[in-house]
Amino acid sequence: MTKLTISPASGDAQAETFIDRATIGDQLQAIGVEYAHWQADRILADDADQDTVLDAYRYSISALNARYGFRSIDVVSLTPDHPDAAALRNKFLAEHTHADFEVRFFVDGSGLFYLHVGDKVYMVLCERGDLISVPANTTHWFDMGTHPFFKCIRFFTTPDGWVGEFTGSDIAKHFPDFDSFTSRRA
Ligand SMILES: [Fe+2]
Repeated sequence: MTKLTISPASGDAQAETFIDRATIGDQLQAIGVEYAHWQADRILADDADQDTVLDAYRYSISALNARYGFRSIDVVSLTPDHPDAAALRNKFLAEHTHADFEVRFFVDGSGLFYLHVGDKVYMVLCERGDLISVPANTTHWFDMGTHPFFKCIRFFTTPDGWVGEFTGSDIAKHFPDFDSFTSRRA
């Protein structure tokens, strides 16, 4: 279930949680983050290849592309048995920024974005059908959990793709990770 928890950056003791998609969209829009929920035009097999995945969402992708002019689009998948799952998880676990804005669409599975904006942390649990954008230079991190499972379309406006700049902050350690966040009640 898609879920947004907004917490003081000092810790998540007085957090507020939202599960209604329209409310989540409004809360995120207020900080310049785009959230949308897309329907696939047709049912996708679990092992669908990249072209089939992109084709299933062609209409929504073209509309988004017309607004942002992406330079490249690809599909990434991760399953818990991936030999580098732990290393890949670690790569995004510390707070960072990047010059390109990050846009991810969850074709399947889930992932948890943490957006550190002002004195708040927005924890956005994205699931199948969810699209989220992280504006350029927004401090954030991402957790896929100890048993990562997702298939995402990634949109890039720069040809270089993902170049992260780590802030050196240990803020991520003070927030629930994917495993504990997803095991909580809403
Ligand atoms: Fe990022």
